[in-house]
Amino acid sequence: MRLDRLLCQHPMWNRRHALTLLAQGKVLADGKVERDGSIDISQFVRVEVDGELIQEGQKALYIMMHKPVGILSATSDPVHKTVMDLLPAELASQLHIAGRLDRASSGLMLLTNDGQWSRRMTDPDLKKPKTYLVTTDNPIDPDTARLFAEGIYFPYEDITTSPAELEQLNSHLVRLTIYEGRYHQIKRMFGRFRNPVVGLHRESMGGIRLDDRLVEGGYRELSEIEIRG
Ligand code: URA
Repeated sequence: MRLDRLLCQHPMWNRRHALTLLAQGKVLADGKVERDGSIDISQFVRVEVDGELIQEGQKALYIMMHKPVGILSATSDPVHKTVMDLLPAELASQLHIAGRLDRASSGLMLLTNDGQWSRRMTDPDLKKPKTYLVTTDNPIDPDTARLFAEGIYFPYEDITTSPAELEQLNSHLVRLTIYEGRYHQIKRMFGRFRNPVVGLHRESMGGIRLDDRLVEGGYRELSEIEIRG
């Protein structure tokens, strides 16, 4: 929300008061004088005016989890256990998922209470790399790397996937880097070769790699560097 609008929510101040307080240098955002009422103030910024607390400033939360196979990427579900069930309830209630994984997939799962950050991590236009280990039912077709690099056409969305990079690890196992995160994207890409995906494990998203010290279901807060994505 704009800072001037936040100030106007105070029961004693109208817009003129808000602008005067800003001009007088009485408004502190995270402890620093802020005179520009047009700036966007997130829910994580502490705002004070003349010693009066206007907004406390929530703690921003950024979590990585090692999602196990069989757990649903959802906030709640009447049937299946979800990633939120693996966290303390008080923490889970504040978080949302930044980039889903299918129930049968495992690996890096990001959770946060910062909507701007999760949009940045998952926006297909920003083309952040996401790396997966993919195990297939049949041997990998020799044309796979070339066709994935050219992009695979998805008629339902009428889009062609961004060029993906494939590193062959053995006859049935590849490391695949994709640059968007469309619904069942990798399964559908291999579907073009009629080669079912039988194992899918996410290793990284942008600059964030799954910490190999995390056991399945384990989680930890991201470091400052990881948060930069
Ligand atoms: N692509 C898929 O098909 N499934 C996932 O979980 C992630 C990417």
